[in-house]
Amino acid sequence: MILRSTIDRVFDTAKVEEVIGDFVQLKKAGSNFKGLSPFSEEKTPSFMVSPVKQIWKDFSTGKGGTVVSFLMEHEHFTYPEAIRYLAKKYNITVEETIQSDAQKEAASERESMYLVSEFANSHFQKTLYTSSEGKSIALTYFNERGFKDDYIKKFQLGFSSDDWSDLTDYALKKGYNIDYLEKTGLTIVKNEKKFDRFRGRVIFPIHSMSGRVLGFGGRILTNDSKSAKYLNSPESEIYHKSKVLYGIFFSKQSIAKENNCFLVEGYTDVIQFHQLGITNVVSSSGTALTIEQIRLINRLTKNITVLFDGDEAGVRASLRGIDLILEQGMNVKICSFPTGEDPDSFAKKSTPNDLRNYLNENSKDFISFKASLLHKENLSDPNKRSELIREIIISISKIDDQIKQEVYVQECSKIMGLSEDVLFASLAQILNNTKSELKKSSLSDSKIFEVLKSEYSKKEVNIQYELEQKIIEILLLYGSKLEDFEDLILKENELGELDLEPVTQKTKVFEKIYLDLQEDEMQFSNSDFKTIYYLIIDYLNQHEKFQIDLFMNNIDPELVPFVTSILMDDERYRLHNWEKNNIYPKPKDLKISQLVSETILSLRCFLIDKKVTEFKKVTQNKSDDNTEILEDVLNYSNLKRLLSRKLNRVL
Ligand code: CTP
Ligand code: MN
Repeated sequence: MILRSTIDRVFDTAKVEEVIGDFVQLKKAGSNFKGLSPFSEEKTPSFMVSPVKQIWKDFSTGKGGTVVSFLMEHEHFTYPEAIRYLAKKYNITVEETIQSDAQKEAASERESMYLVSEFANSHFQKTLYTSSEGKSIALTYFNERGFKDDYIKKFQLGFSSDDWSDLTDYALKKGYNIDYLEKTGLTIVKNEKKFDRFRGRVIFPIHSMSGRVLGFGGRILTNDSKSAKYLNSPESEIYHKSKVLYGIFFSKQSIAKENNCFLVEGYTDVIQFHQLGITNVVSSSGTALTIEQIRLINRLTKNITVLFDGDEAGVRASLRGIDLILEQGMNVKICSFPTGEDPDSFAKKSTPNDLRNYLNENSKDFISFKASLLHKENLSDPNKRSELIREIIISISKIDDQIKQEVYVQECSKIMGLSEDVLFASLAQILNNTKSELKKSSLSDSKIFEVLKSEYSKKEVNIQYELEQKIIEILLLYGSKLEDFEDLILKENELGELDLEPVTQKTKVFEKIYLDLQEDEMQFSNSDFKTIYYLIIDYLNQHEKFQIDLFMNNIDPELVPFVTSILMDDERYRLHNWEKNNIYPKPKDLKISQLVSETILSLRCFLIDKKVTEFKKVTQNKSDDNTEILEDVLNYSNLKRLLSRKLNRVL
């Protein structure tokens, strides 16, 4: 188990905006950061990160929490995995209690598969640099392909020995379980025989966005062999071919910074581009582009440039990917390479400047690109011509943005020499067809969202709920702060009337709130608030220092999204009618002590009103002796008047 002290250090050091920034492109928005939700398909940002509170909230899915819960949601890490990941990122040594064999076995299956993959990855690298085969054959192969030593290291390239079971034997000797070797596909088990899947191949490890090894690609060393040129890890619990992009871990920052992603087909294309200084590049590893892969890129940028090998068949097949990209609301450009070249071979012959210029000059928007295909074929063939125009219009119809559509129609009209009217008419026809198809299916998601949104605004603001929430928020934000409270104490004067007397006291915010609420015998009406309230008070009683993220780390994980909502929801829905409802938001220069006093007073006033209303109901129903109740009402009304006065004074 990881020691408590390590966990505390991780929370002290990790910055939520930095950690999430590795996965989501964040833009400053006031004191927060905003970005596209990595958990949904949205096109306008509703994902927020608060550096001040050290939490995040995704308004599109309702998820939210600390830096650790982000990693658990996004990377599907377990809790210890997330802590370890952060410790690694921030150079913190993980201290832990010694694990027993039983505990080791209890570690999740996935974790075991990651571990054995990590082990294999180091072993392949070691074999490349230390075995005689590795040095003489594999390293020479890489060098001949033009890979420089520092890039071979950077991409963690390796070599799997030609022996039948070099890796398997070594892993078993080191205590790794054969089940996980088999499940990750590193070992093939057949009739009691075990052998290495990748034997005799150079190895390209495939990393997740966060740098974990998920699987491998292995290439044979010769081009004339009968066996497949590349072998890849099979689908497994940790490796889903359709959801990974080779190179994303090494390229993600650059993709976000350049605001563009080059998409190539092969492992070697990625590495060669990096060597020439073009580092915003990923590969789909030779398969047709999938929606999941596009979404992976969409977290980093809206712009994709697809690079095609020179051969026609490849181009045709990959055209389908373009519509998928457009459907995701992204911008796509296409760049093809001269016949017989792939990005790797082209880059190998080029200087960094050559390559950059080539990409700049040959990246075309999808219409120009499709049109240029026709030029190559037969411009005068009317059938081919109209078929192509239709194809282009279908692509345009996938774009969910009318302005963009219009621009593209104009572009298409220019290139294809056809009137815009005809093109718009054809676009309208296609759009109508798809719309009526949509109608047949039930309510679309966006429709449902609209309905929910209007429901929400109709819902009347529940004052008590808002005030209770405000109190929890204050406790979370300022609970441990020592403040001067200017208070007015209720006293009876000589005439037996209630009056207020000013005093100043230095108190911790949470103590003040606790005592005030206790004095009023105030109970939270909402049971979640009540639970959290006592958790915070307990925590503050035991800890001198209070950190929101550390506190959240200590409570029931089920409560974490709820606490996040308390802290983040007002960033989104600012209530319009605070004033009217006697609820006062904290203006920038309002002191914490004032905020506390006002919130508690507002709640008191509200509860008094409620009581008075209840009394009034009771007295209506009873005809007999009401004097006692009436007295109460009077007292409460006086109290209310006094409190209102006090409220005005503080304001
Ligand atoms: N690929 C594969 N299995 C194959 C062939 C290709 O998985 N039998 C994948 C690999 O990820 C490869 C990509 O498709 O990187 C592109 O294939 P290709 O263009 O044939 O390979 P190159 O990357 O050009 O490989 P090389 O230059 O090493 O021949
Ligand atoms: Mn190649």
